[in-house]
Amino acid sequence: MTTPFLEVKNLNVSFPTEDGEVMASQDISFNVALGETLAIVGESGSGKSVSNLAVMGLHNRARTNISGEAWLNLASGPVDVISAPEETVRRLRGKSMAMIFQDPMSALHPYYSIGDQLSEAWRLYNEGSKSDGIKRAAQMLDLVGIPDAARRVQEYPHQFSGGMRQRVMIAMALINNPSLLIADEPTTALDVTVQSQILQLLRDMQKEFNMAVILITHDLGVVAEVADRVNVMYAGKIVEKAGIDSIYYNSLHPYTMGLLSSIPRVDQLGGHRLKTIPGQPPSLIGLPAGCSFRSRCEFASNVTGNLCATSAPLLEIKAPEHASRCHLSVEQLNEFNPSDVRGTHK
Ligand SMILES: Nc1ncnc2c1ncn2[C@@H]1O[C@H](COP(=O)(O)OP(=O)(O)OP(=O)(O)O)[C@@H](O)[C@H]1O
Ligand code: SF4
Ligand SMILES: [Mg+2]
Repeated sequence: MTTPFLEVKNLNVSFPTEDGEVMASQDISFNVALGETLAIVGESGSGKSVSNLAVMGLHNRARTNISGEAWLNLASGPVDVISAPEETVRRLRGKSMAMIFQDPMSALHPYYSIGDQLSEAWRLYNEGSKSDGIKRAAQMLDLVGIPDAARRVQEYPHQFSGGMRQRVMIAMALINNPSLLIADEPTTALDVTVQSQILQLLRDMQKEFNMAVILITHDLGVVAEVADRVNVMYAGKIVEKAGIDSIYYNSLHPYTMGLLSSIPRVDQLGGHRLKTIPGQPPSLIGLPAGCSFRSRCEFASNVTGNLCATSAPLLEIKAPEHASRCHLSVEQLNEFNPSDVRGTHK
């Protein structure tokens, strides 16, 4: 087996607040190898961004409690970005690892040309004049599919459409050839056609640069075409992790089954109401004992001894390369997994 580029081990992130400690990410462990895409899926507030911002070293360390490890296996040797000095992590950011966000406008400066901004990002890590940087910027814009790149490099962010701005952000993230790219909801603000173009671009860029990619999304429907593996998060924890096919065809967690039931299906367009999961996730302050999903789980009553209310399930391997955090057995989960969900989404 190839060594993963990123190895996250037992990562916990919490925020002390006046109301109590917000347990935003708990016991997060996962790996991503070069050339692989891991999707992280879950509802709003499930801890997707918080855990990945910790990997990027982007939390304010004075106001955030972070424990655990996140190893980058660099050519020069492994570095744990959680315990490494902030200056080391700052140097790795933009060079060995990069992140793109949902809203490119917030990451681009309105008063500088796209070429200047890309050129500056390149010159942080490369010897070269400003005009070398602008040349490199134009190459990158061309690579991410922006037509007439040599001219558009002189333009400003407001002169680009939403989809084109997201392409610029991808160019900016990739300009120093990082080994890890974290894309946090990169397509949410875009219309459906542009969304699929950007996902396709991310896939092409991954091949071109042989990167490890983490794609964060709340939409399990968009990951089928791009991801190799999926981590499903709920209330700060990974509740299921498996290869993309196992998740789609043989989910082993009631929450994932609910997410799958709420994906629009081509054969059900036109009048069929989609199932949504009733209820809300629990507050992350003072989480109650037991399974965090239980107030919304249709199957909790099938577990004997009120276990779902009294004991938090562990993330256990239930099938080859397939882990789930649920007290139900594989046989029970297979029985409950609705047949109209299984095998219909890819
Ligand atoms: N600085 C902070 N202080 C206190 N709580 C925070 C802070 N940052 C995030 N949180 C809380 O941590 C939880 C997880 O947030 P996170 O941003 O990771 O969610 P997410 O899964 O990325 O959701 P979304 O899909 O909306 O982006 C949320 O309840 C959020 O309110
Ligand atoms: S542990 Fe219980 S409440 Fe939690 S997902 Fe499984 S059956 Fe549902
Ligand atoms: Mg987020």
